[in-house]
Amino acid sequence: MNRAYWLITGILLMTILNGCGQEPEKEPPAPPPEVSVPPVQTPAPRAHPVTQETRDTYQFYCAQCHGTEGHGNGINAPHLTVPPRDHTKADYLETRTDEQLFTAIQQGGLSVGRAPCMPSWGATLNENTIHSLVSYIRELCQCEAL
Ligand code: HEC
Repeated sequence: MNRAYWLITGILLMTILNGCGQEPEKEPPAPPPEVSVPPVQTPAPRAHPVTQETRDTYQFYCAQCHGTEGHGNGINAPHLTVPPRDHTKADYLETRTDEQLFTAIQQGGLSVGRAPCMPSWGATLNENTIHSLVSYIRELCQCEAL
């Protein structure tokens, strides 16, 4: 056994241990870092969407008390003993369900334990229109029932 023999054996061994000269297996690439994308807040589509007719109805029947933009400051508001609801106020309207708003509109304020100076509209407006008015109020307050 001479030194050249050991040298050659050594080189051969290293080559074999190295995987016969093949590229060592690569680690799979690291997954891209998680980027937190905030969920897009798209409100669920409503069964009774707001149409131009809904907006016209609100202007014709509701705006004199609730105001043209729903702020509760219509031309008739100062003459009422109880101020008309501000339909843009989410903190109150979040506490009311769609059913409660529907009933208030259809059967008047008293039916939901509110003031009678909120008239009932069931004889004037059909159910679809009232449902779409509820959708419109949800649009004005940009809120849903909690
Ligand atoms: C004569 C004035 C008047 C008109 C017209 C009127 N409202 Fe009202 N409305 C009120 C008053 C006053 C209240 C507040 C009652 C209370 O807080 O006790 C009210 C409250 C409400 C409420 C909230 C009920 C609740 O649960 O607190 C809704 C919803 C509503 N009105 C919808 C309408 C819609 C829709 C129309 C048109 C179709 C309309 N109102 C027309 C006076 C009016």
